[in-house]
Amino acid sequence: MNQPESNNAQELVLALSKGRIFDETIPLLQEAGIQVLEDPETSRKLILPTNQPTVRVIIVRASDVPTYVQYGAADFGVAGKDVLQEHSSAGLYQPIDLHIAKCRLSVAVRENFDYDAAIKQGSRLRVASKYVQAAREHFAKKGVHVDLIKLYGSMELAPLVGLADVIVDLVSTGNTLKANNLVEVEKIQEITSRLIVNQASLKLKRQLLQPIMEAFKKASIQLNDSTNEFADPNLY
Ligand code: ATP
Ligand code: PRP
Repeated sequence: MNQPESNNAQELVLALSKGRIFDETIPLLQEAGIQVLEDPETSRKLILPTNQPTVRVIIVRASDVPTYVQYGAADFGVAGKDVLQEHSSAGLYQPIDLHIAKCRLSVAVRENFDYDAAIKQGSRLRVASKYVQAAREHFAKKGVHVDLIKLYGSMELAPLVGLADVIVDLVSTGNTLKANNLVEVEKIQEITSRLIVNQASLKLKRQLLQPIMEAFKKASIQLNDSTNEFADPNLY
């Protein structure tokens, strides 16, 4: 995998998205003795220094994190399973489920939409989602024919204005669905965020990466012990 010149052999670049991923990664970084010196909510900077001269954080869109890591512009990053499933895994190593940013990927419909009947009738369902791969797989397994409509946000609007019959979106508290008179009719999968590492960086910068990965692993085990409802036996 590529290692651009700006990402040099003596330093590590960590790709994070603003908001919940950044906020929930802070305690993991703390376990590794790393403190980010600027707040992405108030700073306009996209490259943030840390208290360790060898570690910098870059702030990117959540769905762009795997791209930066894949091309080696970042050595490692944190991304949701939802994002990773929609992205090619080439050149990416996914060693640790961090047990942060927990939510679920679900199917939701308007309160008055008879989902079971629509499925039984065998008619084509119009499905709007940002997660088209996951949605396609889910309905293919059920043998339901679907027309997929790709959206980039505000999925909850689609059934309300007749763009789609159902949506596949992330649900946590359920408040967003409730506020838009939608109901969750099927849970597809539990979602957490994972550490992703560029495969070339793992070989070339193992000495720098290893202690951070160990610290993340330790902190994530503690997190999982306190909230182990979504434990995934295949990952640590
Ligand atoms: P982008 O900016 O690329 O469109 P986004 O707006 O989905 O991405 P965030 O809202 O910060 O970015 O979500 C980042 C990750 O957090 C998601 O990929 C998902 O794994 C998780 N997530 C999303 N919504 C929730 C939620 N309501 N509760 C907990 N975790 C969530
Ligand atoms: C996510 C998701 C839902 C909402 C669900 O949006 O796309 O809209 O969270 O959470 P809830 O069940 O707790 O209401 P997010 O908050 O990330 O907003 P965004 O997609 O506009 O960034």
